[in-house]
Amino acid sequence: MATRMRRPVTLAAAVTTAAALGAGALTLALPAAAADTPAPPMSLVDGTLDWGIKQSFRSYLAQPFAKGRITAEGGATQAAGNGVFTFVDGTGTYDTTSHATATAFKGGVHFEAHEGVLDIRVSDVRLKTAGSAAPTGEITADVVTKEKDGSFTTRDDVSFAALDMTGVRPGRGADGAMVFKDIPAELTKDGAAAFAGFYKEGDALDAATLTVKADARPTTPPTTPPPTT
Ligand code: HEM
Repeated sequence: MATRMRRPVTLAAAVTTAAALGAGALTLALPAAAADTPAPPMSLVDGTLDWGIKQSFRSYLAQPFAKGRITAEGGATQAAGNGVFTFVDGTGTYDTTSHATATAFKGGVHFEAHEGVLDIRVSDVRLKTAGSAAPTGEITADVVTKEKDGSFTTRDDVSFAALDMTGVRPGRGADGAMVFKDIPAELTKDGAAAFAGFYKEGDALDAATLTVKADARPTTPPTTPPPTT
């Protein structure tokens, strides 16, 4: 009997850990009276996503024949040496019931090459994790691709990358931040559609690193409690 149950460590565990460590004014231990009431989602703030999308694609565009240009825009940055991108100002939610998370970032990347023939723009980058439902997640984005006939196809909120949270262990960053380093990512079918058939579904993408902080402020304004009968 070699099967061993392994509990995936997700953002949920890190948030719990952060709460236990007192990082932010988090209170996950709800009063017993609130047990039947769905817990309000917790806000995530100050998020960054360090993700190079696909290293081989960045290298391809850097080859002289491609005459490529990579522009980080809208607040995103690119590390020196044709490095990874950082998408910024991430805000989102952590569902204290399902332990699912969703964080949306600012910034995008514009890839251009071959005298305008290759033109791909990625923006509205979001990272979601499924929580207790499964040790999975995804990165979605708005992707605009120039087609062979010169027209542009816009795919909004496409599932671009499939994430595997199975082996991801939460770490701690500065100021109580939770860091999920090197989340394995692979290309989805819709993601592959942006690359003119050069990549296929399941191809490895760069691993993604998510950093978020639990917001100390309450997510919902205080309401008047219903009258007791
Ligand atoms: C004038 C048009 C184009 C030419 C001459 C061209 C040429 C090439 C060549 C020679 C390679 C192989 C590079 C290598 O192995 O190092 C390549 C790879 C590739 N091309 Fe293009 N290409 C063109 C347009 C496009 C367009 C329009 C797209 C996407 C919309 C695209 C996406 C790719 C991708 C994703 C790869 C694989 C890069 C990698 O990960 O190694 N190309 N292309």
